[in-house]
Amino acid sequence: MAEIIRVFNEIHAVIAGRTAHRLAQQIGFPLGECTAIHIATLEVTRNILEYAGHGQVLFEQVERQDVLGIQLGIEIQAIDNGPGIPDLEAVLQDGFSTGKGLGKGLPGAKRLMDDFEITSDMDKGTSITMRKWKL
Ligand SMILES: Nc1ncnc2c1ncn2[C@@H]1O[C@H](COP(=O)(O)OP(=O)(O)O)[C@@H](O)[C@H]1O
Ligand SMILES: [Mg+2]
Repeated sequence: MAEIIRVFNEIHAVIAGRTAHRLAQQIGFPLGECTAIHIATLEVTRNILEYAGHGQVLFEQVERQDVLGIQLGIEIQAIDNGPGIPDLEAVLQDGFSTGKGLGKGLPGAKRLMDDFEITSDMDKGTSITMRKWKL
């Protein structure tokens, strides 16, 4: 199970959010967590449109071994070749925005997910990888 959505206009953010929700449901997440994953995906996809113009979002079911056995999760990766993020700490602060937004997208997405990693390069763009694990 892996999917990819190319993102270059507003409708793709809606589709990415709904795709995340549908895959989370397939993996067996409860409804509230499907909604959390949906919102986090919508935020990082809207950022691609707003700050990089275009990019892509990858969805994948992932697994890890824990003491009780195999744990399933969902991984969502939002990738662009935009301007990059100069200060990764700043953008994770509540209320920081260089645009017209509320500056709550990235800190909100981070809180909604279990794992949240940003890598960014001024020449190459930004990649955000987030994961949520099913209990
Ligand atoms: N994909 C991206 N490429 C470049 N900068 C980004 C990207 N995503 C987020 N940012 C930067 O991080 C800031 C915070 O993002 P976010 O928390 O979503 O708040 P908002 O979108 O409301 O500004 C943005 O204002 C922007 O400066
Ligand atoms: Mg945003």
